[in-house]
Amino acid sequence: MSDLQSLYQELILDHSRTPHGFGLREEIPAQSHQLNPTCGDEITLQVHRSADGGVEAIAWEGHGCAISQASASLLAELAEGLTVDELEVRIAAFREAMRSRGTIEPDEELLGDAAALGGVSRQVARVAVANGYDVVIANSRGPETLADLVAELGPRAKAATAEEAAAAADVAVVTVPLHAIDQLPAAQLAGKIVLDTNNYYFERDGHIEALDKGETTTSELVQAQLPDSKIAKAFNHIYAAEITTDGTAAGTPNRRALATAGDDAEAVAFVTRFYDEAGFDTVNVGPLSESWRVERDRPAYVIRQNAEELAANVARANRLP
Ligand SMILES: NC(=O)c1ccc[n+]([C@@H]2O[C@H](COP(=O)([O-])OP(=O)(O)OC[C@H]3O[C@@H](n4cnc5c(N)ncnc54)[C@H](OP(=O)(O)O)[C@@H]3O)[C@@H](O)[C@H]2O)c1
Repeated sequence: MSDLQSLYQELILDHSRTPHGFGLREEIPAQSHQLNPTCGDEITLQVHRSADGGVEAIAWEGHGCAISQASASLLAELAEGLTVDELEVRIAAFREAMRSRGTIEPDEELLGDAAALGGVSRQVARVAVANGYDVVIANSRGPETLADLVAELGPRAKAATAEEAAAAADVAVVTVPLHAIDQLPAAQLAGKIVLDTNNYYFERDGHIEALDKGETTTSELVQAQLPDSKIAKAFNHIYAAEITTDGTAAGTPNRRALATAGDDAEAVAFVTRFYDEAGFDTVNVGPLSESWRVERDRPAYVIRQNAEELAANVARANRLP
């Protein structure tokens, strides 16, 4: 395991298992409840002031993925003893780093351990580099905006345009919002294995009638855009941050499992091998047309489950949520 993975593992697991500030108090000086309708994460948070007007403690209770629990815990720890102005500066810095999609390097002096949570959308590249793959990364804004990530990933990584990255790839990971799949470089991806991480969020992607009616799947839409590529579903039903924290060695009791789906046996075999390298068992849910079973609002979506539990959740999924 790389130093980076160890850092994530240590911080996120420690803070999500033993969260700092967890537990609301009876006395309620200022309290706020927040719900993220996209992922279902929830938090209730109280700010307790000290006699001099500073922050004595943040008390909170919530539920969600390991990264959101760890974020609340890290920020609660960071806040203690600060003035309100100091805390506002740190929260603004944290928010900026988390929303920057990695274009801003979090300031460790300002954020302490919480700096390690920046850049969650780069997890598959991190796992790939840690396992000896060469990686070419692209985004919508141009390779120059990926310089920090490339520097972090080291000599196995470089940045390019989407067309160049597709042309360089033996295997490509398509991890763009669903509404952007019509811009994928189909010619450069022809004949190649393409891992599709997509999910459908009508709030973000706009309504797509065939998905609303359960007549197709996001992976079949990607396949339609890339008719000559070998598509396999991958990593869609795990929070990105957990890709580098939840993997364990093959044979570990209760190892977390992830689903794949595909019409091409070679692509499914690749995902199975890659999942194992990343630390996950595989459950194959069948062809792309069955991949709805692990999409949003189905029982298997973004929860931790072993292979047996995942297979059971896949079997009991309803076509229309
Ligand atoms: N986040 C998660 O935990 C998670 C987990 C599993 C699956 N998913 C699914 O995976 C997909 C991507 O999610 P995400 O959270 O990674 O989304 P994101 O952070 O909004 O976007 C991912 C990347 O797509 C790039 N992009 C957008 N349009 C592009 C284009 N036309 N050409 C090249 N690159 C483009 C963005 O580049 P710029 O930053 O330059 O715009 C960004 O780097 C979604 O369908 C999501 O539902 C997400």
